[in-house]
Amino acid sequence: MARSLNQVNMETIVSLCKRRGFIFPSSEIYGGLGSTWDYGPMGVELKRNVKDAWWKSVVHERNDVVGLDSAILMHPDIWVASGHAEGFTDPLVECKNCHHRFRPDHLESDSCPDCGGELTDARMFNLMLKTFLGPAEDSAHQVWMRPETAQGIFVNFQNVLVSHRGRLPFGIAQIGKAFRNEITPGNFVFRTREFEQMEIEYFIEPPEIASKKGNPSDEELHQEWLNTRFDWYVKLGMRKDKLRIRQHGDDELAHYAKSCYDVEYEFPWGWSELEGIANRTDFDLGQHQSHSGKDMTYFDDEIQERYIPYVLEPSGGADRSTLAFLVDAYDEEAATGSNESRTVLHLHPSLAPIKVAVLPLSRNEKLVPKAREVHDIVKANFVSQYDDSQSIGRRYRRQDEIGTPLAVTIDFKTVEEDNSVTIRDRDSMVQDRVPIPSLLEALKDKIENLSLGK
Ligand code: GAP
Repeated sequence: MARSLNQVNMETIVSLCKRRGFIFPSSEIYGGLGSTWDYGPMGVELKRNVKDAWWKSVVHERNDVVGLDSAILMHPDIWVASGHAEGFTDPLVECKNCHHRFRPDHLESDSCPDCGGELTDARMFNLMLKTFLGPAEDSAHQVWMRPETAQGIFVNFQNVLVSHRGRLPFGIAQIGKAFRNEITPGNFVFRTREFEQMEIEYFIEPPEIASKKGNPSDEELHQEWLNTRFDWYVKLGMRKDKLRIRQHGDDELAHYAKSCYDVEYEFPWGWSELEGIANRTDFDLGQHQSHSGKDMTYFDDEIQERYIPYVLEPSGGADRSTLAFLVDAYDEEAATGSNESRTVLHLHPSLAPIKVAVLPLSRNEKLVPKAREVHDIVKANFVSQYDDSQSIGRRYRRQDEIGTPLAVTIDFKTVEEDNSVTIRDRDSMVQDRVPIPSLLEALKDKIENLSLGK
């Protein structure tokens, strides 16, 4: 039996991520580049699993949402129409002496926190990053790096509708990079300047049409999405008591939103947004219709009317949810009646970077070939890792730290007696003996029934 010592803090998570190859500081050998991070061998698997689980649940398991992968660089007029060129800003003050910039709401006094210099009045600062297309670096060639993937969906609304014979309500989902020149990035991968979003634009009937047809209103469908998205985190093992839904106050609403709710997680520094679920009304399609001159309406053949749909937008971050899954899975446990402790990630098996480790008890010449044979069987069915370095105890600890749910060990009984192996459960640490011919079935069964030990 194990006792949890869980008092996770961010330094512990950052250090585990570096040590075990989840996340590294970017450009590290050149001293790093503020708040940019690279995903290592374990991190890339974990984040991909988060994105795959999201895609499976919002695209593959539904019949009313399809996928899209639009370009990062888009026509600059899109950001004028969407309101980002004008309104995607934060107020900033600048020190007249050292020229460092700060958000006024983060300052404790009216002088520069770095050098004590005098500060300018607050000015609005656009958060979009710029670059240039083509050889000339002038304003005619300037484009923005998208600050949200959403606009790529809105401008493709008619393409998807026509090619996919979409009928309301229907959604378009997209995963992709977004860029914001955040003034106060931080908390590891929680707030960065380059990040990945997982967004759905779910097009629905506007309130007057829904009420005329007796269909659920935008507000009712909004509540359904809140439940669907909250449940997704819980199904993937996140502790329910660490999750909550919080409604935005009027002063927090983005320029496009009629109402918005955040799914929040209680990180070590406090409750923070994992995902925003907004009612963007017909704002975006309406804006693109008037700025592009192209028709953005939907023809409702039931009532023979054209109208611009409303849209509900569940918009989450792949990096933020990866971090929340890591924090939530992290535990330090002491074995009852002993001084020994271990670090373990109780990750849901579908998120765990490696599902099964295959470990010969030692590098003994009888064990290694048999372990390789077992690995060949396992690797065709599960993402797995073969490891024969160091002592078996250290290898179990390493697999616990990267969250591998099951470890198969090949010992002398395997080769000398009965062709059976042990399967060790990450969470209970209990080992069962299984004949090799039944191994795959036993692994599948155990993966499906893992308790997560949280
Ligand atoms: N299209 C709506 C939209 O972009 P948002 O609340 O600004 O809304 C949605 O962003 C999600 O994107 C957030 O809930 C968060 O998970 C992620 N996100 C936003 N800014 C981020 C940043 N600087 N670093 C990491 N993730 C970020």
